[in-house]
Amino acid sequence: MNKLVVSLLLSLGITGLAHAAGDAEAGKNKILMCQACHGADGNTTLMPTYPKLGGQGANYLFKQMLDIKTGERPVVEMTGMLDAMSDQDMKDIAAWYASQKGTTGYADPELAERGEALFRGGKLADGMPACSGCHSPDGAGLDLARYPKLSGQHADYIAKQLTDFREGDRYNDGDAMTMRDVAEKLSNKDIKALASYIQGLH
Ligand code: HEC
Ligand code: HEC
Repeated sequence: MNKLVVSLLLSLGITGLAHAAGDAEAGKNKILMCQACHGADGNTTLMPTYPKLGGQGANYLFKQMLDIKTGERPVVEMTGMLDAMSDQDMKDIAAWYASQKGTTGYADPELAERGEALFRGGKLADGMPACSGCHSPDGAGLDLARYPKLSGQHADYIAKQLTDFREGDRYNDGDAMTMRDVAEKLSNKDIKALASYIQGLH
C-alpha cells in the first residue's frame, strides 16, 4: 500500500471515530422543536410530566430517542418529530442535553423517609433490589450501562414512568425486563414516596 492510501485510510478512520460520538455544539442547533417542551438547557418547568433532559447521560438519551422514533417507547406528544432525524442528529442532541446542568427540586419531608429506605435498601422480602445499586446512591446513574440519572427529576414524571413500567405501558427496558420486574413490587404509596425522594436527590 502506498503512503497516500494509508494516510487516507487513517484519516477516514479518525473521522469515523469522531462521528461515533455526538457533537454538543451541533446539537444545540437541532433542538428548535424540542425546546418548547424540554427547554433549551433541558430543564423544563412547563409540565411536571415533561422530563428534564439536562445532565442526563448521552447514551441513555440516544437510546430513548431511538426507541421513541421506532415506537418501541410510545410518546404521543412527540409523534413524528424524530422521523427526519439521522442517528448523528440524535447523538448531537443527546450530547447537547448531556452537557447541560440538571436542576434539582425538593422532596416532601413526610414521604422522604420511606422513599429513601426503598431507594437505598430495596425490598429484600420481595426480592426487589435497591434502586441505588444501578442508579447510584446520589441518583447520578451510570451512563456507560445506560442506567439513567434520576436525581432532581420531576416527581410526577418519575411516578408516571414507574406506574407505566408496572402496568406494562412502558416496555423498552429490554429482554431482561429490569424495570418492569422492579416496578411490579411497588405499591402506589411506594411510588409516591420514591418519586418525591428522587425529586429532591442531588
Ligand atoms: C409537545 C411536547 C414535547 C416535544 C415538542 C418534545 N418532547 Fe420529548 N418528551 C415529551 C414527553 C411528554 C415525554 C415523556 C413521555 C412519557 O411519559 O414517557 C418526552 C420524553 C423524551 C425523552 C425521554 C427522556 C427520559 O428521561 O427518558 C427524550 C430523550 C426526549 N423526549 C427528547 C426530545 C427531543 C430530542 C425532542 C425534539 C426533537 C422532543 N423530545 C420534543 C414531550 C415532548
Ligand atoms: C438492575 C438495575 C436497575 C435497578 C435495580 C433499578 N433500575 Fe431503574 N432503570 C434501569 C435501567 C436500565 C433503566 C432504563 C431502561 C430503558 O432503557 O428505558 C431504568 C429506568 C428507570 C426510570 C426511567 C427514567 C427516565 O428518565 O425515564 C426510572 C424512573 C427508574 N428506573 C427508577 C428506578 C427505581 C425507583 C428503582 C428502585 C425501586 C430502580 N429504578 C431500580 C435499571 C435499574
